[in-house]
Amino acid sequence: MPNKSSKITVIIGAQWGDEGKGKITDFFAGEADFVVRFHGGNNAGHTVIVNDNIFKLHLIPSGVLYDHPVSIIGNGVVVDPAALIKEINYLRDKGVDPKLKISDRAHVILPYHIEMDVALTKHQDKLAAGSTKRGIAPVYGDKMFRHGIRMVDITEPSVFKEKLDKAFSFNQTLIKAFGHSSSLNKEKIYDEYIGYGQTLAPYISDVSVNLFNAHKRGSSILFEGAQGISLDVDHGVYPHTTSSNTVAGHIAAGTGVGFRDIHRIIGVTKAYLSRVGQSPLPTELEGDEAERLREKGGEYGTTTGRPRRVGWLDLVQVRQAVRTNGLTEIALTKLDILSGFSKLPVCRAYNIGGKEITEMPASLSQFRDSSPVYDELDGWGSLTSDMIEKGFSALPQTLQQYVKYIEDQVGCPITIISMGPQRHETIIR
Ligand code: GDP
Ligand code: IMO
Ligand code: MG
Repeated sequence: MPNKSSKITVIIGAQWGDEGKGKITDFFAGEADFVVRFHGGNNAGHTVIVNDNIFKLHLIPSGVLYDHPVSIIGNGVVVDPAALIKEINYLRDKGVDPKLKISDRAHVILPYHIEMDVALTKHQDKLAAGSTKRGIAPVYGDKMFRHGIRMVDITEPSVFKEKLDKAFSFNQTLIKAFGHSSSLNKEKIYDEYIGYGQTLAPYISDVSVNLFNAHKRGSSILFEGAQGISLDVDHGVYPHTTSSNTVAGHIAAGTGVGFRDIHRIIGVTKAYLSRVGQSPLPTELEGDEAERLREKGGEYGTTTGRPRRVGWLDLVQVRQAVRTNGLTEIALTKLDILSGFSKLPVCRAYNIGGKEITEMPASLSQFRDSSPVYDELDGWGSLTSDMIEKGFSALPQTLQQYVKYIEDQVGCPITIISMGPQRHETIIR
């Protein structure tokens, strides 16, 4: 360690999630030996389209569609075993047999986490993030309280029983204190999860050691982030965030390997903006304009089916993503969806109390009071497959200017341009 020939690439979200990380991960995964998720859970929804086949993935990394790479679920991920088994079966039904390893240290989502998620969201009211109701905040909460249950535990009946006693009563007490009734039965959960442990045991291993050895051998490792910078629990728009760190720096904590030689960190950025859930959204569009962009972009949640809120590109947000992740480059997606808009406002700063602010405020009251300062760029017409084949210089001048304007504003090169959901609808500059 480190081995010079090992290539490490990290793909992360530079906005509010749903930027197209699945597509970009799939684009690179053909050359990877390992594709790794390092945080989040089945709150994520990553769509990958290969020819006529649409794959919707929640826990298994988007590299799974190639035969070669091993799919890894790191310790930083939270695993709903029922959802994972369903996803394995879903892939098998589509002719894909995942080569999967799950960290023995990954925490397990239990039914009381999902009940707690509902209770918490109701209790937090206007301060809630509008969660996906997958139990994410409660499972990470239990991890920090230190009564969480890990994958290894559901393969060890007596320790599992000991831990479940404590975690179950803790969560039941809170759920009831919030005024919710619960019909959960501890013995039933125990039996069910021991069953999941038996089914998943062949996949469970110490992935930290697996990845460390692979790295020493010079294997190529691709990390697939979930969510995006504004949902990061430290750097995002707290408390309207998820409960994990989405930033690239989390790959070490979330897999148990201190990687020192990362080759590329790619921030996936949608050419406009979408957001599922609750928070102020300075560049949000309303009415017909929002409807037009939502319909054209197919902006409906992969996980919950909720209509995504949409808005113009926010470079205050992307600037923060460049800095906190140490991005080496940006992959700009969904440029095809902006075709046909005559003018494209892009937010380069916020106006807060009469001052122009170019970095994301930590203060919630300031964020609530932010209004966008726009530069208006010229739009472009239809994009053709011929342009994709010829490359960046064949694209409309106004689109090229849009790309260069973003690069100037955020100080990071845009090296990948995505103009459709398919693998081949991608330009490398
Ligand atoms: P993720 O969560 O970041 O992986 O993104 P999602 O998969 O939730 O949402 C992105 C959606 O946009 C998916 O349906 C993709 O198939 C689609 N997509 C990705 N890149 C492009 C693109 O460049 N153009 C178009 N039209 N669709 C894209
Ligand atoms: P991918 O990986 C978009 C949002 C939820 C909510 C907040 C907290 O597909 O980009 P949680 O269930 O994590 O407690 O919800 O985070 N959220 C996402 N939004 N894409 C995602 O994942 C998301 N995962 C969580 O809508 O606002
Ligand atoms: Mg998504």
